[in-house]
Amino acid sequence: MSVGRLSVADMSTPAMISVTGLARTFTTKTGPVEAVRGIDFEVREGEILGLLGPNGAGKTTTLRMISTLIEPTAGDAVVSGADLLRDPRLVRSRIGYVAQGGATHDEELVIDELVLQARLFGLSKRSAVANAESLLHTLDLDGLGGRKCKQLSGGQRRRVDIALGLVHQPNLIYLDEPTTGLDPQSRANLWDHIRSLRERGTTIVLTTHYLDEADALCDRILVMDHGEIVAEGTPDELKRRISGDVISLEISPELAARAVEVADGALELRSQLTEGHLVHLTVEKGDAAVVPLLHALQSAGIVPGSLTVKRPSLDDVFLTVTGRSLRDGDQG
Ligand SMILES: Nc1ncnc2c1ncn2[C@@H]1O[C@H](COP(=O)(O)OP(=O)(O)OP(=O)(O)O)[C@@H](O)[C@H]1O
Ligand SMILES: [Mg+2]
Repeated sequence: MSVGRLSVADMSTPAMISVTGLARTFTTKTGPVEAVRGIDFEVREGEILGLLGPNGAGKTTTLRMISTLIEPTAGDAVVSGADLLRDPRLVRSRIGYVAQGGATHDEELVIDELVLQARLFGLSKRSAVANAESLLHTLDLDGLGGRKCKQLSGGQRRRVDIALGLVHQPNLIYLDEPTTGLDPQSRANLWDHIRSLRERGTTIVLTTHYLDEADALCDRILVMDHGEIVAEGTPDELKRRISGDVISLEISPELAARAVEVADGALELRSQLTEGHLVHLTVEKGDAAVVPLLHALQSAGIVPGSLTVKRPSLDDVFLTVTGRSLRDGDQG
């Protein structure tokens, strides 16, 4: 998995989306709302980019702008080779958009929804049916084409939403909170489907509130808060850049001070903390530090009872860049 992540996030891969200075202010009775405040970002061909942020961060507004559903107040973008402001129709034809609340109708048959959507994009009846059926198969919905949408489970219905976004065969798809409201098993299943779309070469931009989702799926993450991008990187980069890795050693308390001294001589320590039998050492790259650390300790006659390396969580990252936890932000 991690090899795939590295190869698609490579900065030499061509850009599928380039966004410059994109902003949107809404006018409301109580005054202007600056939903997105002039953001710049790129999405590389073949990657899964995540917009991660709490309620009201500006994620949906960003997706709606780059899918031509609403006009930016400022800024511009090139999406799949088409100019957002000058050629919105072309942009529209090249993307799939799966809205936050879904787009299926209770009483319609699944197959009818898919065929209609494909026809709206100008496909012939025959290609529309062929694409619809092949997508039902791809998304594990075999045999459900003849059901009404209201007769599906939450996870199945979300997969029909995704099929709707893909039925005209775009190579770029936006998924606005693909798994919100699903049970853990359906979420895991949808994650597999999203990964396999990427394996087929589809570029994906998704939004999420969930740190574990961003971590599990995304090649790169933009952390958004109050209409701005407050951090950007691969999940690993974000975690490393912001907090470093923590190596915890189990050592008898009387040897702890000496162990820290030895570690400090062998590694570039960012910080250290001793708690009873445990010595925690924060370093930039935990994996690379283990061998030199053990070697130095051994030469000093210290043998730790155990050693663990822990990456900080994305929660730690969010806290560091915004000064509040994502879950707090999530409430309001
Ligand atoms: N049509 C609108 N009119 C006025 N304000 C709006 C409109 N749409 C969004 N906003 C405001 O813009 C800000 C960003 O909203 P947006 O829907 O982009 O957030 P989000 O990150 O998608 O949040 P969520 O996680 O809840 O979906 C919010 O303050 C929201 O209230
Ligand atoms: Mg939203």
